[in-house]
Amino acid sequence: MSLSRDKSGTRQATTLVSRANETANALEVRGLSKIYDSTAGRVVALDNINFTVKKGEFVSIVGPSGSGKSTLLNMVGALDRPTVGQVLINGIDIFALNDSQIATMRNSLIGFIFQSFNLINRTTVLKNVKLPGTISGMSVSEANERAMKILDALGIGDKASQKPINLSGGQQQRVAIARALVNNPAIILADEPTGNLDTKTGDDVFDMLKMLSRKFNRTIIMVTHNPELAESTDRSILIRDGGIEKDVIN
Ligand SMILES: Nc1ncnc2c1ncn2[C@@H]1O[C@H](COP(=O)(O)OP(=O)(O)O)[C@@H](O)[C@H]1O
Ligand SMILES: [Mg+2]
Repeated sequence: MSLSRDKSGTRQATTLVSRANETANALEVRGLSKIYDSTAGRVVALDNINFTVKKGEFVSIVGPSGSGKSTLLNMVGALDRPTVGQVLINGIDIFALNDSQIATMRNSLIGFIFQSFNLINRTTVLKNVKLPGTISGMSVSEANERAMKILDALGIGDKASQKPINLSGGQQQRVAIARALVNNPAIILADEPTGNLDTKTGDDVFDMLKMLSRKFNRTIIMVTHNPELAESTDRSILIRDGGIEKDVIN
């Protein structure tokens, strides 16, 4: 009896949350600042950043080296707390939560793709891709099934039992994209995902992100130094000295 009551209660709560989130922006950044205090001195890395990203938008973040792009992505991705300001993902005020709740939200709401892939090389491609799913409590069979489906869709299903180190850079970045997708995140954050790849391979990886945006309505925020790639996204935000200098629809 109590079990079924719990279940229906959970179902009700889930329905309420998903209804609330249907109308929310994928991302809202409000008054975000980050100040680093180190022995070298005080660095204002971000200074009162405000913007929103709609569901399905593909946004590029551009700007000179040291302007605060990675800091911004790290705050949006809840890898680090801002000095002040709010980040709302699917309407959830991330930094109002405690550290353990933030970790749970990060794993379920955000997919990360890094310049240097950040895969675990001593284990297989399949295990790398499954990991966020396993952490969020997916059953082994569900995680396996989902990971394989995504790897197949990204054209690297045949690499599932290999170690990432034995794959090309482009293939490794596809594995990272698959891992970013496994929990069906609200936003995908990519920090210079083509930065370690040659032009052709980088373009292939970018085309894959674009496909995810167009075909599957994924919300993607990508830092890039490549102006051509930036112009091929829906919208570009130019960061300079920790502030938004321009925010343009492409
Ligand atoms: N952990 C840190 N401690 C101190 N300063 C930092 C730290 N991370 C970044 N910064 C400084 O913040 C500024 C923005 O850095 P970053 O966000 O990495 O820029 P970008 O990604 O645009 O190159 C730079 O001046 C950088 O030196
Ligand atoms: Mg950077």
